[in-house]
Amino acid sequence: MQPFYITTPIYYVNAKPHLGHAYTTIVADSMARFHRSLGQETYFLTGTDEHGDKIAEAAEKAGQSPQEYADTISGLFSGMWPGLQITNDDFIRTTQERHKKVVQEVLQKVYDKGDIYFGEYGGYYCKGCECFLTEKDLVDGLCPDHKVAPTYIAEKNYFFRMSKYREALLKHIEENPDFIRPERYRKEVVSLLESGELEDLCISRPKSRLTWGIELPFDSDYVCYVWFDALINYVSALEYPEGKKYKKYWPAAQHLVAKDILKPHAIFWPTMLMSAEIPLYNHLNVHGYWLIKDTKMSKSLGNVVAPLDMVDKYGLDTFRYFLLREMRFGNDASFSEEGLVARRNADLANDLGNLFSRSLSMVHKYFDGVVPAPKKLTVDAELKALAENAFTNFTELFGRVCFAQALEALWELVRGLNKYIDSSAPWVLFKEKDMERLAEVMYSLLECLHKVAVCLQPVMPDAASTMLEQLGVKDIGTIAEETSTWGRLVPGAGLAKASNLFPRIDLPKEEDAKQAEEAAQPIKKKQAASKDDGLIEFTDFQKLDLRVGTVVSCDPHPDADRLLLVQIDLGEEKTRQVVAGLAEFFSPDDLKGKQVVLVANLKPRKLRGHMSQGMILAVKTEGGMQLLTSTAPVVNGSKVS
Ligand code: ME8
Ligand code: MG
Repeated sequence: MQPFYITTPIYYVNAKPHLGHAYTTIVADSMARFHRSLGQETYFLTGTDEHGDKIAEAAEKAGQSPQEYADTISGLFSGMWPGLQITNDDFIRTTQERHKKVVQEVLQKVYDKGDIYFGEYGGYYCKGCECFLTEKDLVDGLCPDHKVAPTYIAEKNYFFRMSKYREALLKHIEENPDFIRPERYRKEVVSLLESGELEDLCISRPKSRLTWGIELPFDSDYVCYVWFDALINYVSALEYPEGKKYKKYWPAAQHLVAKDILKPHAIFWPTMLMSAEIPLYNHLNVHGYWLIKDTKMSKSLGNVVAPLDMVDKYGLDTFRYFLLREMRFGNDASFSEEGLVARRNADLANDLGNLFSRSLSMVHKYFDGVVPAPKKLTVDAELKALAENAFTNFTELFGRVCFAQALEALWELVRGLNKYIDSSAPWVLFKEKDMERLAEVMYSLLECLHKVAVCLQPVMPDAASTMLEQLGVKDIGTIAEETSTWGRLVPGAGLAKASNLFPRIDLPKEEDAKQAEEAAQPIKKKQAASKDDGLIEFTDFQKLDLRVGTVVSCDPHPDADRLLLVQIDLGEEKTRQVVAGLAEFFSPDDLKGKQVVLVANLKPRKLRGHMSQGMILAVKTEGGMQLLTSTAPVVNGSKVS
């Protein structure tokens, strides 16, 4: 099977990472997970771009040396990836020796070939883009991306004969229609190439103006232009030219970028590769911009969203799902928390979460919580066609970087399964004691859910694993195996009691939000005066996970008179043990069968040698203790809000 190599842009270290960087890296991660799950040997590279004018300038502003500055910001990028569950195999920094060495080798090779010459050039330079712009690129005299007027620079420099490769590149694009995808970007590049002579590329900076770069191997008065340096990371990380990784993965290379850096990737890079006699990459996958209210989110404009704040607020699975589902790869998309919450509630809580918890509770009701054994380990014919179609489309679309459409295809099945429950009415079959048919229906349902979870692994790693665990699945095969073979779910496997994968999230309504904001004003002021006024923010309260559960058994703590070991059914797979200081007021029998309110997300800790996972809420009265409970019985695991 062909290996798979995916790269993200290496990000500039002149500002903190934001949602745009998180998006590209999450997409790359989902692709890497997807191809690994198909059984392909996969290499996933990301990193940071650390040379050039704008890093030198940012470092100076911060009063640091460029290297110190680059170290700090590069650390913010590499430090953020674990929080997004990014599974990159390598993290390259262009200030590393391994990279510099290869850049110099490539420069020398291109120079020896006669593709680099010395000349004079004047042009409009945008530091934000780190490149010369033509008059045509400017809008009202400003760089359209960075909204600043470029500086006119004229100096003697080295040039790469990019123009020499114009026709060869056009031909390559014609012969390989998905070399650049989606289509609109291929067209953009073709029309750029066809519009006229391709200019040569200035690839040096005199040291008199900039020293923060890689020295040219053939002239020590110059450093290499940052883009020529940066693009080479894609092969230097693989230890070009002799490395095993290079030989294995380079033939399977795919790059992932946003449209802001289309030209360097679609024109500079392939022509550089041609000159250096390195085979071209397979695909350049180009996405659009995340917008905030119609404007590109960017560090230079300052309208950025911090990815980890979103993860803290809404959870990583929801965040990753939203990013892949909301943006049609190639087009721009708007980011808003309202949009994110809407997707969470509609797609995840209503469609998927409900389906899952409905299914589990039926299996518990009808088959004691184990996967039933139908006569034949397969699924109902009507469902099978729907499911097979969904899996084929999902896999095919995901492989072609159409993530939103792939998820839509999968959701046709998710919604189809909800309808299947309604139309096959398991509760009627149960009432009529048609257990044979009921087993078929429930098995069909569970088998499809199992496959949906397998497909979702690349996108929502945690939620998918939880789903698989709750379905009692131990050995997971590749996506290809799982979606094309039926009957992989093992009859008799025990299922989780209940599932609450994606509880609904309610954003405060606009009016409420306004009121809350007004109400918060004086508090904020007060907080400034005295920090600790005992008040908490609504978001602090939201962090509490309070749930109702039933005490199923209770024993005295063997080593502590005041403590009880209370086992509570919280609707989860296993009961929870809470070590509670209630022995003075309650005997174990008093508590048995009672519903209590539990702080469910308290960090587990050991109390006198026994694990305690949560805290029971109670009120101390004079000489006694009352437990908090619900006024009528509720389903175990219900959330208190
Ligand atoms: O360009 N929407 O680095 P950079 C979507 N160092 N993606 C966005 C985005 C947005 N609003 N903003 C940023 C560089 N991105 C060079 C790359 S590669 C050899 C050198 C993402 O820090 C997107 O992937 O400006 C975009 O291409 C990249 O960040 C630009 O990152
Ligand atoms: Mg940029």
